[in-house]
Amino acid sequence: MKIFAYGIREDEQNALNEWMTNHPEVEVDYTDKLLDPQTAQLAAGADAVDVYQQLAYTPETLTALHELGINKMSLRNVGTDNIDFETARRYDFSISNVAVYSPNAIAEHAAIQGARVLRQTKPLDRKIENHDLRWAPTIGREVRMQTFGIIGTGHIGHVLIDILQGFGAKVIGYDVYRNPELEAEGIYVDTLDELYAQSDVISLHVPSLPENYHMINKETIAKMKDDVVLINVSRGDLMDIDAVIDGLDSGKIFGLAMDVYEKEVGLFNKDWSHETFPDEKIADLIARENVLVTPHTAFYTTKAVYEMVTQSMDASLAFIKGDETANEVKY
Ligand code: COI
Repeated sequence: MKIFAYGIREDEQNALNEWMTNHPEVEVDYTDKLLDPQTAQLAAGADAVDVYQQLAYTPETLTALHELGINKMSLRNVGTDNIDFETARRYDFSISNVAVYSPNAIAEHAAIQGARVLRQTKPLDRKIENHDLRWAPTIGREVRMQTFGIIGTGHIGHVLIDILQGFGAKVIGYDVYRNPELEAEGIYVDTLDELYAQSDVISLHVPSLPENYHMINKETIAKMKDDVVLINVSRGDLMDIDAVIDGLDSGKIFGLAMDVYEKEVGLFNKDWSHETFPDEKIADLIARENVLVTPHTAFYTTKAVYEMVTQSMDASLAFIKGDETANEVKY
């Protein structure tokens, strides 16, 4: 039994080593390279591949694996939007993701960044770095006094609701699939329009699907309260970033915390400090005092990385042995 892992980072190494020690019967080989039609050859002889990348799993890449006799692929992350499912179906690929690695990692980040925008900590920190120790003008808005609108009440949205309720904030939610526990608490509104109209802070926790594309746009922003705060730790294409920038410019939007960006592939998780920064929009957003940009790091905790590595390797092994895995992606 052999598993070949792609794109292994230094911070994943300990979890991988531990998994290998616990599974001496499995041969494991790995590379820091990402999976593409060329690097697919590295997996020759393996029964399954373990992967994480934002780069697409294209028809060519999946065909290259198929030609090596490999049709088992375990993702170390949750999002499956970069997989060409048509080709995967043609070659009968078994695919797994790590559906729940640590909802708290992402929910905490959303709560922290949202609170930072409300309390204006970015301009406050900048002032203090310049030895300007005056109070004004960075007066804060209290978290407990806001109504938070949570779009998507799955694992992450639910944890975020618990965290915000701990602050004493009012929380309302919208989801096409309602959680009975949250329903009993009466948090749901019936329409997104109601959520837009009532929320002081709006946080997105839905997947990238055609029906969610640019759900935050000129028209929906117009339906929101003045001075709304937006949080996006989910997927970049949920927001029409130009409409959001217009909202920031007009003052309609009080602040923004974004961890994802529609054009983040090739931009995020790379050191640009010695190179010309290639994206003017992100450079402009980073410079703004009321905008917090993080490079898709909401998930990035020791717990999440451990779960991503070990659960995905477990799923690869289950596929090889013909066992069931709860992480199988049904498509
Ligand atoms: C996912 O799990 O799909 C994420 O968005 C986190 C990723 C950057 C590892």
